[in-house]
Amino acid sequence: GDVRDLEGRRVLVSTGGTREPLDPVRYLGNRSSGKQGLALAEAAAVRGAQVTLVAANLALPVPEGITVVPVQTALELQAEISGRAGEHDVVVMVAAVADFRPAEYTESKIKKTHDPADPDAAPTIRLVRNPDILAGLVADRGAASAPVIVGFAAETGDATGSVLDLGRAKLARKGCDLLVVNEVGTDKTFGADETSVHVLSRGSDDVVDIGPASKSVVSHGIWDVVVGSALIR
Ligand code: C5P
Repeated sequence: GDVRDLEGRRVLVSTGGTREPLDPVRYLGNRSSGKQGLALAEAAAVRGAQVTLVAANLALPVPEGITVVPVQTALELQAEISGRAGEHDVVVMVAAVADFRPAEYTESKIKKTHDPADPDAAPTIRLVRNPDILAGLVADRGAASAPVIVGFAAETGDATGSVLDLGRAKLARKGCDLLVVNEVGTDKTFGADETSVHVLSRGSDDVVDIGPASKSVVSHGIWDVVVGSALIR
């Protein structure tokens, strides 16, 4: 397209999936490919924004003109995002952030026989909670109107509610301005090229449905909502 409606705007996007190390060779990770966040960053750049992409373990090439900040863990991602948020007009948290990390990092590789007294025993891994980065951004912003904060949620409907009900509850809990909900459990999300999403806005009952379409088309649809919402000052 030839829409330059993000000209001069500064956009910060997180993408990929965090890895929480156990020892020098092992980590707890997730299946996020980073494609959706990368597509959002590219779409913003095409529309004229100055884009910084905080990329957790992204294995995809990033077009020239987008500033990439590589990170590995949730704590690194938090440091890079929260340190930069104040200089941006919009922050979009697409990254799949591990909710937990191993309580201890073992400096040398954990051995198969880690307890000589019981050679067949398996180790127990204790986990601790990671911070909720998105909720932290909202708290840090306080009463200020900038940056606009957009969250993502991958939901499966269950007995307790539909995907949209769960999305509404999450939007209220996190306090962000917009929440992009995608339905998982189909083959259409993690690593896939086509997706469909529902965009929820705080303080409105309206839902914008986008897709099924390519992640690029979906990304432009999301930027249409952000620009059209008049949230950017
Ligand atoms: O609660 P849930 O993980 O479903 O929320 C997803 C949203 O919250 C995404 O925008 C994700 O980037 C963000 N998130 C975060 N910090 C966490 C977990 C998720 O910022 N520890």
